[in-house]
Amino acid sequence: MAVTVVVGSQWGDEGKGKVVDLLASQFDVVARYQGGANAGHTIKWGDTTQVLHLLPSGVFASGVHCLIGNGVVIDPKALVSEIQKVQELGYDLEGRLWISRNAHCILPYHQALESVRSADRIGTTKRGIGPAYTDKIARTGIRIGELIDRDAFFKRLQVEVAQKNLVLRGAYGERELDAEEIFSEYTGYAEQLQEYVTDTTHFLHEALDQGKQILAEGAQGCLLDIDFGTYPYVTSSSPTAGGVCTGLGVSPTAILRIIGITKAYCTRVGHGPFPTELTDHTGAHLQKTGGEFGATTGRPRRCGWLDLVALRYSCRLNGFSELALTKLDVLSGLETVKVCVEYEQGGAADSRFTNDAQALEAVTPRYEVMQGWKEDICGCRKFEALPDAAKELVHRIQSFTGIPVTMISTGPRRSQTIQVDC
Ligand code: GDP
Ligand code: IMO
Ligand code: MG
Repeated sequence: MAVTVVVGSQWGDEGKGKVVDLLASQFDVVARYQGGANAGHTIKWGDTTQVLHLLPSGVFASGVHCLIGNGVVIDPKALVSEIQKVQELGYDLEGRLWISRNAHCILPYHQALESVRSADRIGTTKRGIGPAYTDKIARTGIRIGELIDRDAFFKRLQVEVAQKNLVLRGAYGERELDAEEIFSEYTGYAEQLQEYVTDTTHFLHEALDQGKQILAEGAQGCLLDIDFGTYPYVTSSSPTAGGVCTGLGVSPTAILRIIGITKAYCTRVGHGPFPTELTDHTGAHLQKTGGEFGATTGRPRRCGWLDLVALRYSCRLNGFSELALTKLDVLSGLETVKVCVEYEQGGAADSRFTNDAQALEAVTPRYEVMQGWKEDICGCRKFEALPDAAKELVHRIQSFTGIPVTMISTGPRRSQTIQVDC
């Protein structure tokens, strides 16, 4: 039995969608284990570009089962529209999409609460993620299993909307929400989702017993982890490999491979410390060349040099068995490329990452300056074909982290990938 995990090693948007789509056909099941429609996973083939927010990035691989686990928070409206979009493209999901009955719902009051409470302070995606996880932990959430049970949903919704209105109107002077209105809209979504709802943990246990291969798809990145990220500038779930066990119900011993996805530079969307951020023309160059605009919100992504101190922290948190290095092509044409190998705090060097947001804000990165390369590498299909300076960067990432780079992505398309023999 075997689970392979794909985890973002930075602040999200590392290219998880591309890698999962590429690997999907080697697996029987692709499963999302946390997050919600805050994710934007881009998949490109031919002239087609698709961005998935809730559906696993295995939907375009024929015959592969796609599963949304209990750890995910599901906006039923967003999911129904994404299912429709994928089906219109000709990909049938009947009998191969499975939604956990224990996953929590994101309902209109979650977005309403987020917009008054935390959206601007954190720079969230405004998808209701934080308030939905708050309800889950407070044991006041409405789960998918209740959404599809009309009577249970009606009763729970009345209570929850009344409670949320007290806060929305009382504390923030906002407009009250109407439970009946929400009920009539969301029972429509429930009807469309019903056929996919099941006990996904049981489904996975049976699949594992039958020797099937499972690919767990992380959303966000581990520096946005609720515990290990730069709190409070984090998301409300556990994107780290540890989140796979609680978000799907598989045991740690079922996990065989953990692939850390890392960009050849760093990006961050929203607020929070970012030691290697570049606010100069190089940052603007990375943003433009890398097309660094949010796949969910369209916001420009902050860009900076690769932070090896942060990457090593991610490697330790997740126990990566390998790294997939993405967007190496974006660095082509730069005279020199920098990688951060230490932080400086109060005149002293520190080789450890700190997730204390205030402390991280105060560090100054110390860089190793590496030779850049001029060549366009988008067409490279073999490691040997890369310019020496690009190979040197890959070797430095490996030597610093101690983790082998087994895949190098040199463009958004499936074919633009180098498998590295190690
Ligand atoms: P995810 O959230 O981790 O799935 O990443 P996003 O889809 O939000 O952002 C990654 C962006 O980079 C998308 O537009 C991808 O199409 C694109 N991309 C992925 N890998 C590469 C690559 O190796 N080179 C280039 N130039 N673009 C890439
Ligand atoms: P993928 O899966 C990049 C960021 C938001 C914000 C913080 C909290 O595409 O890599 P939230 O809405 O989750 O409460 O926002 O997390 N964020 C992401 N940044 N990629 C993502 O997902 C993200 N999902 C959330 O910008 O700073
Ligand atoms: Mg993304």
